[in-house]
Amino acid sequence: MDEKILKSLVLPRHIGFIMDGNGRWATARGLERSEGHKAGAETFRTISTYCAKLGIESVTFYAFSTENWKRPKKEVGTLMKLFRAFLEEAQEREGENEALGFRIKFAGDMTGLPKDLIRLFRTCEARSANKTGTTVNIAVNYGGRAEITAAVRKIAEKVRKGEMGVDDITEDTVSAGLYTAGQPDPDLIIRPGGESRLSNFLIWQAAYSEFYFTDILWPDFTPEDLDKAIIDFCSRNRRFGAVK
Ligand code: IPE
Ligand code: IPE
Ligand code: MG
Repeated sequence: MDEKILKSLVLPRHIGFIMDGNGRWATARGLERSEGHKAGAETFRTISTYCAKLGIESVTFYAFSTENWKRPKKEVGTLMKLFRAFLEEAQEREGENEALGFRIKFAGDMTGLPKDLIRLFRTCEARSANKTGTTVNIAVNYGGRAEITAAVRKIAEKVRKGEMGVDDITEDTVSAGLYTAGQPDPDLIIRPGGESRLSNFLIWQAAYSEFYFTDILWPDFTPEDLDKAIIDFCSRNRRFGAVK
């Protein structure tokens, strides 16, 4: 983005990306869907790097939903393999990520994932925990309803043990039990791939998010497309229920 324009904008603090359209991108080229996921992983790299350069505080990428287990076993297996390969490569290129100051976090129900993958996630998180640049949340086996349910369970458990009263339950205590605890709610949620829905992504956190839908398929999504989305976001009047 042009420096002058960039300086004049109040950027979103947190951007969510629903990385959709990988399969269609591959099919349109006569390729296997897995090729689309590989291309999508490259886009993830490009866009997360660009967000760090822009100085965005938090970004969340939706990589695999709790509903994506409904896909053919082969595709799920390919995706898990891809996550593994991507993270192993990221470890090898740690210097680059360190220079960008990424703090990496995984959001989702880790209990349902292969053990070696969880270990890789934890290593990745631990190695970047003290970084102060962009927080990159990667949502894997993530579902907004499951996330809220888990938060409610934690609260119920505290109430049961007498550590908390029913009257102490507030919106803040629910937010504190979510994977994104401590981070601002997403100001902007971008969904490429032509669908206009959230598909269970950050449903609590998105209460006042601005949405940006585009037909561009995720593997084709570029930093220039992100510029467009950000400029569009900056032109909106966010009232949060008030009169402004
Ligand atoms: C998004 O691309 C990646 C995941 C959901 C894992 P899709 O695989 O959903 O691509 P389309 O929507 O079928 O094109
Ligand atoms: C949303 O995409 C989930 C991810 C991008 C990880 P889907 O392709 O799974 O969403 P639906 O099925 O079109 O709603
Ligand atoms: Mg899809």
